[in-house]
Amino acid sequence: MTTILRGNIIHAPALGRLETLERGYLVLEDGVIRGLYPALPAACRNAPVEDYGENLILQSFADMHLHAPQYAMVGMGMDLPLLDWLNTYTFPVEARYADLDYARRSYRKLAADLIARGTTRVAMFSTLHTDATLILMEELERAGVTGYVGKVNMDRNGGEKLQETTDESVAETLRWLEQCCFEHIKPILTPRFTPSCTDTLMEQLGRIAAERRLYVQSHLSENTGEMDWVGELCPDCGEYWETYAKHGLWKSHTIMAHCVHSSEREQRAMAEAGVLAVHCADSNVNILSGTAPVRQLLERGVRVALGSDVAGGAQLGMPQVITASIRASKVKCMETGMPFLTVPEGYYLGTTAGHRYFGAGEGFAAGDALHAVVVDESRFPEPARPLSLSERLERALYLMDDRDLRAVYSEGRKVLG
Ligand code: GUN
Ligand code: FE
Repeated sequence: MTTILRGNIIHAPALGRLETLERGYLVLEDGVIRGLYPALPAACRNAPVEDYGENLILQSFADMHLHAPQYAMVGMGMDLPLLDWLNTYTFPVEARYADLDYARRSYRKLAADLIARGTTRVAMFSTLHTDATLILMEELERAGVTGYVGKVNMDRNGGEKLQETTDESVAETLRWLEQCCFEHIKPILTPRFTPSCTDTLMEQLGRIAAERRLYVQSHLSENTGEMDWVGELCPDCGEYWETYAKHGLWKSHTIMAHCVHSSEREQRAMAEAGVLAVHCADSNVNILSGTAPVRQLLERGVRVALGSDVAGGAQLGMPQVITASIRASKVKCMETGMPFLTVPEGYYLGTTAGHRYFGAGEGFAAGDALHAVVVDESRFPEPARPLSLSERLERALYLMDDRDLRAVYSEGRKVLG
């Protein structure tokens, strides 16, 4: 079936490049983009048009790193650096997800709030609890969120309440994989980070990843205290990334959150393997990790996307994550002279860069299922002069929240509005 959206279309087909189409037409065939047109193609004359008038039609957002259970503590406990923050605040909250009724309530709210903010693709951590992880996947699927979710593996340093034995961790991972049967939410292997996983567990996960062709997500070089600890735990590895690489977990589509303090060698290893570095600017400031050199990563050919890292990050909405990344890059610019991220670059990193991880093309590409949001700017101040579409995009990214979204499309389906 042909459907057509009409409005002011703004998408990012390359890093730093916007394409805009004033009162243009986005033509879909069964939810899949056929093309963008300045005027309605003659062949589509009889198809229904969803006319969004002066509203903006933007790409929806991809949050490539967040912790679902930590939504329960968002906006709290940001007075400690990473390792103390994990032990004091985070692990006790995650332990609560042994309670499946609580998990259901908490995850239902998160799924609805993601869609309300226009996030339609995610790479997400659950907790180590298999059944709560399945509930999370079910709730995301029901709300219309797509992407990857991982049952977390942790067989050391989790304290009494948040730790599995190595055998449990492997057996529960296999049980979880057997029970994953969702259309739009897929499993991803998720060793929490090296301090949480013994070599034996990592080795088993590497084997499972290879046998079942699964992707992997984890954390890398977020904080200097963490990196020193990894050095002590793994004296055989020269650098942090090697603790993953030696077990077959460092490969194309491996997602590594943070990469704040990666050496040039570690950055080059990411570029070579096709590892995706996920930048989480708000989190990196909140829990005192640092400011990632995003420009340098990009220049060295590393694939980069953005993540909210809720709840190290206190903002679930990706427009806030994008503008936080731009602000952080300006701090880095003032310190080092590295050019800061522009608005078109931030928009690309928060949309196309994430969507590409899932096999999508650049921007609103023909052949891709539609992932889009419709923004109504009527709540914003009246501008002093007419604005171009790229100015309107900038303003929307800095000002918009869930109140301003008129519609959300995920994987070709209208899931809000
Ligand atoms: N490293 C290991 N676990 C976590 C976590 O939950 N959040 C962040 N920001 N870093 C981590
Ligand atoms: Fe994280």
